[in-house]
Amino acid sequence: MSTKTNKSNRVIIFDTTLRDGEQAPGCSMNLEEKIQVAQVLDEMGVDVIEAGFPIASNGDFQSVQEVSKRVKNAQVAGLARATRKDIDRAWEALQPAVNPRIHSFLSTSPLHMKYKLQMEPEAVHQAVADSISYARNLCDNVEWSPEDGTRTEHDFLCRCVETAIKAGASTINIPDTVGYTVPEEFHALIEMLMNRVPNIDKAIISVHCHNDLGLAVANSLAALKAGARQIECTINGIGERAGNCAMEEVVMALRTRSDAMPYESGVDTTQIMRASRLVSTVTGFSVQPNKAIVGANAFAHESGIHQDGMLKNAQTYEIMTPESVGLTRSNLVMGKHSGRHAFKAKLEELGFELAENEFQDAFVRFKDLADHKKDIYDEDIVALVDDAVVRT
Ligand code: KIV
Ligand code: ZN
Repeated sequence: MSTKTNKSNRVIIFDTTLRDGEQAPGCSMNLEEKIQVAQVLDEMGVDVIEAGFPIASNGDFQSVQEVSKRVKNAQVAGLARATRKDIDRAWEALQPAVNPRIHSFLSTSPLHMKYKLQMEPEAVHQAVADSISYARNLCDNVEWSPEDGTRTEHDFLCRCVETAIKAGASTINIPDTVGYTVPEEFHALIEMLMNRVPNIDKAIISVHCHNDLGLAVANSLAALKAGARQIECTINGIGERAGNCAMEEVVMALRTRSDAMPYESGVDTTQIMRASRLVSTVTGFSVQPNKAIVGANAFAHESGIHQDGMLKNAQTYEIMTPESVGLTRSNLVMGKHSGRHAFKAKLEELGFELAENEFQDAFVRFKDLADHKKDIYDEDIVALVDDAVVRT
């Protein structure tokens, strides 16, 4: 059990679609597209929008600057490594923002320090202190991330987190950079930080989970119970390799299972489909049909038993309403598993009222067709009915 718990149940949603999401191979967006995405994120009530990594390129710099000009409500974050040059560049790009945040990171795992940074732990520790004090002199909203945090040795992680908070970081983000952790372990890691870092209550604890083992959402939710109050995520879960924690899944899990997880986000979930479609269109990354919340099949039913249940009471097979994510209705898909009840409902929707013998004939012919044809369109059903009416 943690000895220190965070009293508020409000979870800060930090969206990094425009930064980590864009780092997915083939997911790059142009300036206009980034502005469009940022505006939708802002309208849907996201708390922080990470707009890019200004030192990475002039294009990234410009997009952070332009997003900063347009975002009205959310904080805008710019990413920076632990160097003055990176931090200056991020700060310059963030100038127009109403609520700017500098997000600085440095690897702390033995593997990253030895091979990637080629720095000794003491030098890394010093760089944390220096970079965060430097950023804090520019901006009063500074986030620090120990990259590869979940593979970092615990004593060293505690020391670096304590130092970052002393130097002025108001958010400490623990990244599972390579999607390695599992929920119980991640919960224990956050709990360990809450218990061992003396000044931890001066900062918001954030989590940033990658999805290499398909656990990003589960890990993020597990961290809340240990005291984390910021979740970093992306629309449609896009991001490096297998992607990041999917925002739509986290916010809908919080909304749907508030009985099991007493936390809330400020996101207007009815904007989810709008955001998902926009990100899919601008990145050219299609959403897999069975993707939770936003996949084409997430509110679709084909089996006769399920369709029958849905027609009697939608809660039989749906735990969320389509309206809650911005869809107008569920989709009863006509196929070989559909039954009479759904077929009749479809006919009514298409404006047909058949006599019993016409209906029976049309249903038999529909089943025959569905055995041979993968997709049954409304036009196929209209043709069947025309035939049935003529023949009976
Ligand atoms: O995955 C990661 O570690 C990151 C950091 C920059 C936060 O994206
Ligand atoms: Zn990341």
